[in-house]
Amino acid sequence: MKKVTKAVFPVAGMGSRFLPATKASPKEMMPIVDKPLIQYAVEEAVAAGITDMVFITGRNKRAIEDHFDKAYELESELAARGKEELLRIVQDTVPKHVNCIYIRQPEALGLGHAVLCAAPVVDDAPFAVLLADDLIDADVPVMKQMSDVFHDYECSVLGVQNVPRAHTRQYGIVSTEAESGTVQRLRGIVEKPAPEQAPSTQAVVGRYILTPKIFDHLRRVRPGAGGEIQLTDAISSLLEEEAVLAYQFSGVRYDCGSKMGYLQATIALARKHPEVGAAFTDFLSRFSATRPT
Ligand code: G1P
Repeated sequence: MKKVTKAVFPVAGMGSRFLPATKASPKEMMPIVDKPLIQYAVEEAVAAGITDMVFITGRNKRAIEDHFDKAYELESELAARGKEELLRIVQDTVPKHVNCIYIRQPEALGLGHAVLCAAPVVDDAPFAVLLADDLIDADVPVMKQMSDVFHDYECSVLGVQNVPRAHTRQYGIVSTEAESGTVQRLRGIVEKPAPEQAPSTQAVVGRYILTPKIFDHLRRVRPGAGGEIQLTDAISSLLEEEAVLAYQFSGVRYDCGSKMGYLQATIALARKHPEVGAAFTDFLSRFSATRPT
């Protein structure tokens, strides 16, 4: 089995939950402290040894391309002023050995359709999918954890975690049987079930490693939940042909597609930030002591 060297980042979504902030700039460029969400996701992929980043973009997403590109004017300005540290930050948005590839998704037809847009570049290799909305704070980056599982089992791996039953309508929900520790065998998967119909409370969060067979299934699936081509439905169909694993990762996941998750991530990561962490933690304790909660 080939190594996972390609990652797909579906970034064509509208970000309507953050309007007006996302009216003219992509939701994936919203910062957690000082780094945009998409950069956290790319860094996680780099930590897993991935070298080809495939962004599935849409209208109004040019800022993502600019972010990972050379910024000539800014760089020469910073160099001229001797701002070496800032220059390094600007140049290091993506390591030199990494390729960034951009594919336009002409219409927002769903996550499955976005992943299918990557087929000409991914071709016949296993690949990762990372949803930048799901920011996962972990000692070992989650995609690295998952590529180790992939290396051992050589089949598709989905990152899962438990969610409250009342929230199943927001996720792909899996049913599984035990394999070994945090690795389970998938028995079924269903997109956004009602709580009373959900087969479990284990939800797929935005991390996948998929074999290229998924493309055949994506080409065949009909529109599902919300009238969209769902990745979940293609995985369900793939399961009839190949084994798929569900992996309970270690790490704290923040749903940065929601205001609450975004705020929680901001606070959690600001407290750990090398420059402002100590002062911010101090501020937070004084703040909660002086304000009614
Ligand atoms: C997508 C997937 C869903 C998954 C979720 C994780 O849904 O369709 O299966 O559980 O991401 O964040 P979305 O959040 O795009 O509606």
